[in-house]
Amino acid sequence: MKKILASNFKTNHTRASTKGFVEGIDKFVKQEGITNDIFIFPTATSLDCFEISDNISIGVQNAYPVSDGSFTGEIGTAQLDEFGIKTILIGHSERRHILKEPNELIVKKYDFFKSNNYKIIYCIGEPYEVKLEGMESIIEYLFSQLEGIDLTYKNLIVAYEPVWAIGTGKVATVEDINEIHGVLKQKITSPLLYGGSVKTDNIEEILNIDSVDGVLVGSGSWKIENFIEMIKVGAKNVIKR
Ligand code: 13P
Repeated sequence: MKKILASNFKTNHTRASTKGFVEGIDKFVKQEGITNDIFIFPTATSLDCFEISDNISIGVQNAYPVSDGSFTGEIGTAQLDEFGIKTILIGHSERRHILKEPNELIVKKYDFFKSNNYKIIYCIGEPYEVKLEGMESIIEYLFSQLEGIDLTYKNLIVAYEPVWAIGTGKVATVEDINEIHGVLKQKITSPLLYGGSVKTDNIEEILNIDSVDGVLVGSGSWKIENFIEMIKVGAKNVIKR
């Protein structure tokens, strides 16, 4: 199976640097004949109509579950349609924990963007307190984040991103990823990504785990040369199989 490589810019890059990044990745993908699915999630202000390879998708990090209306500060599908955006991240830990997005709204977003046929990368992950309680609690917590989510949706990708591993340089062990992904895979049939401090120096061992269908990368992917390095590893991984 081809490994998926996704870069989440979070609150980084400008319109100008995003354009350079997207065009640079597209050039590399074309030059090397890379066929892996690649996702880039720039800031909403950097969205544009990029002319890029079919296997590269530009997604939005967040949107409100409406077409348009009076929701100050939010964007809906009318604004996303202008750029042909049909991919969204939902349930990211920073939105759940820092921005206090309630589960109710997350489920509402999921249903809305599903009914609009968006590709959804749905993120789940346990905080450190839960990790300390052990595997049973971790699984129970992750399953609770899947409640109310239609797991049969054909345009779904799930991303397991332990909260304590995001932006901290701490990565889950290969054994833990393998075990947790194994349990999740009994419940879901969609591709399953790992995220949390994935870097150029650990991506290979992570992508080598059979139950890892790809990675969702933050800080480690913001420099184009690093994301290119990761795409190379992802492509090598396909050839090896
Ligand atoms: P880092 O790669 O910076 O840990 O972030 C992971 C993440 O949150 C991707 O969505």
